[in-house]
Amino acid sequence: MEKVTKPCQPEEEKHIFSRGIDYFKTGKVSIWGLGDKNTLQLLKKIEIHGKWLNLAAGDGRYNLNLLEKADFVVASDIDESALSKLWHNTPEEYRAKLDTKLFDITKKFPFENNSFDGVFCTGTLHLFPKEILQKIIFEIDRILKSNGRVIIDFATDVKRTSPDGKLVTFGKEPSYTLKDAKSTLKKLFKNYKIKMYDSGVVEDFEAANLPYTLNCRFVILIVDKK
Ligand SMILES: C[S@@+](CC[C@H](N)C(=O)[O-])C[C@H]1O[C@@H](n2cnc3c(N)ncnc32)[C@H](O)[C@@H]1O
Repeated sequence: MEKVTKPCQPEEEKHIFSRGIDYFKTGKVSIWGLGDKNTLQLLKKIEIHGKWLNLAAGDGRYNLNLLEKADFVVASDIDESALSKLWHNTPEEYRAKLDTKLFDITKKFPFENNSFDGVFCTGTLHLFPKEILQKIIFEIDRILKSNGRVIIDFATDVKRTSPDGKLVTFGKEPSYTLKDAKSTLKKLFKNYKIKMYDSGVVEDFEAANLPYTLNCRFVILIVDKK
């Protein structure tokens, strides 16, 4: 795969929350850090098999953890530079079971019904208004096989502060409390077997254009399709 350095500009009114950066200038580690401790622990112990979709995978913070367990992983994002960094950072022995797919999560996903054993999505879904979130979950459900599994995280009580102390927000992103998020997610996955875990983070994102400190809680959700 060629190295794609062209930044994908954000268009927040169209729900495109890309970072507008050349990911090859951001170092090897993901711009979103090394990963949340609880999520990493969960990925270690949970059963993951078959074909997985890493939705809005970014520059691959958790992609290798998925590749180590799944038989095949499709990493998707709207940002080709992010996906290109993900691919180039993937050790060669895993590339045969990795594909990348560029698409807008708010549109119909470019996959057949019942084509994935699992869908993984972190750091992203809280950015979308409820009606768009509903559409995304509908698409996840459509492409997921019965008995398939979904692992997502959903940030709540989000506060981003720039180095000069200003609040940073993305477009008209909704603001969920932990309680709101849990009840929204329960409704959206009402036909699934649900497990939820609480987590939280205070972390500096220096390569995120604009740099900011994120302070949030989040729900880690594991749902199994009946
Ligand atoms: C906060 S990052 C999370 C990346 C990765 N999932 C992680 O946890 O490290 C959000 C990602 O969503 C992608 N994104 C934003 N809007 C999108 C859209 N409309 N369709 C697809 N991807 C989108 C961004 O390009 C970015 O890579």
